[in-house]
Amino acid sequence: MKYLIGTDLGTSATKTVLFDENGTSIASASIAYPLHQPRNGWAEQDPLDWWNACVSTLRRVIAQSGVSTADIAGIGLSGQMHGLVMLDENGETLRNSIIWCDGRTTAECAEITEKIGARRLIEITANPALTGFTAGKILWVRKNEPELYERCRHILLPKDYLRYKLTGEFAAEMSDASGMNLLDVPNRRWSGEVLEKLDIDPALLPPVRESYEIAGHITAESAALTGLAAGTPVVGGAGDNAAAAIGTGVVKSGKAFVTIGTSGVIFAHSDRVTIDPSGRVHTFCSAVPGAWTVMSCTLSAGGSLQWFRNNFCAAEIETAAGLGKDPYELTNGQAERIPIGADRLLFLPYLMGERSPLLDADARGVFFGLSAMHTRQHMLRAVMEGVSYSQRQCIDVLRSMGVLTGEILATGGGARSPLWRQMLADLFECPVATVENSEGSALGAAILAGVGTGLYANLSSACENIIKVGDLRRPVAANTEAYEPYYRLYREIYPQLTRQFRKLAAL
Ligand code: XUL
Repeated sequence: MKYLIGTDLGTSATKTVLFDENGTSIASASIAYPLHQPRNGWAEQDPLDWWNACVSTLRRVIAQSGVSTADIAGIGLSGQMHGLVMLDENGETLRNSIIWCDGRTTAECAEITEKIGARRLIEITANPALTGFTAGKILWVRKNEPELYERCRHILLPKDYLRYKLTGEFAAEMSDASGMNLLDVPNRRWSGEVLEKLDIDPALLPPVRESYEIAGHITAESAALTGLAAGTPVVGGAGDNAAAAIGTGVVKSGKAFVTIGTSGVIFAHSDRVTIDPSGRVHTFCSAVPGAWTVMSCTLSAGGSLQWFRNNFCAAEIETAAGLGKDPYELTNGQAERIPIGADRLLFLPYLMGERSPLLDADARGVFFGLSAMHTRQHMLRAVMEGVSYSQRQCIDVLRSMGVLTGEILATGGGARSPLWRQMLADLFECPVATVENSEGSALGAAILAGVGTGLYANLSSACENIIKVGDLRRPVAANTEAYEPYYRLYREIYPQLTRQFRKLAAL
């Protein structure tokens, strides 16, 4: 029996899963690390925290599984997209990574749009300049930390930094590179035109490969640290969402999934480049060669519930620890007892600003309609509903583009909640199903490694054999009807507040 490893570098933790060749999870380990928010709207992480978590989780799964490392056919990496990792000539990190949900680059995005031209930029990179994307972050460091930029020799995305530490190779792959505003997305190569106009030296960027291609091998040094066998192949891998697509079998037109992770994503496969001209949702290269994806990204989905839990649910955290349960099991139970609409309480989940479909780094969270009768449980339900309304707003955009047709699969931590899945089904007015293997991105990364190392013939047959659909929630007409006026009101609130958000940001 051969084995595969998928390592997913998330925002709250890095998770490594060891699978057998049938895609059954044999051992899994996860290590959390902090998110640094030095200013309102900024978000950074230390790449060495990622690396330490990667090493420790690899060691743990190898020890737990007891498999011989000679039987591990390959490793796939997936990870949070867009983060800027800058290395000096010795491969040392120059600063913390400015990550995907950081909103400091509004001015740099305006500069990029001005230098390249709004239409041309979308033609080449398939997306407008967005604060979360990497190019703006590069320009920000060049402007604000010039002495540090001078010393930069390599620019990498988060999971590609792990690859460098594991294999000594500098490499990127299509799906993640698509989120930098530097890739020619239709032609799947770095854009010489964009790099030249932004005056970014192409030598700073690594070669870019397809996701299944082998992009390096475990070095003797990283073998000693992780317990892996030196020479084990590491494939290109994919951005977390593109990897989750493989891990949920979204590899053909008509297939789609929703993720409630820290971010909230609606993701649809597309056999051709389909672009929203107003840039409300993203078009990226798929991890499937010769295919693309259309996806929305909201910045605080599961992140909103995590924020609420961390700040207002100390009792549940403590009780859950005592019972050996996940605190979300308790909070879900509480939210379930509150009626649809939370007795007229709405929540706008813009804690880190909002990307899809608003594109507003200055937006912030709002509880709307607080009354003296509301309890913490109402707020909890309102947070879950607000996140679901924000996903529905993205669904509306993808449907209008014709890339979303049938059933939607649900993945990410939030999808473990049957209440949340039912809410999504009611609001999306279509069935929402889970997949039986809930490892999502880690499984997708491992499947890519299986294809790259020849264990599987191709992605679609591997997905057909491995991925099984699990529990399915159908929309309940009465619920859909009850949510509808709240959803309409939700959509009306943000446009009334844009000027005030701007003023708040300027205080
Ligand atoms: C996608 C995005 C997030 C991150 C973190 O555009 O920014 O989904 O990949 O999960």
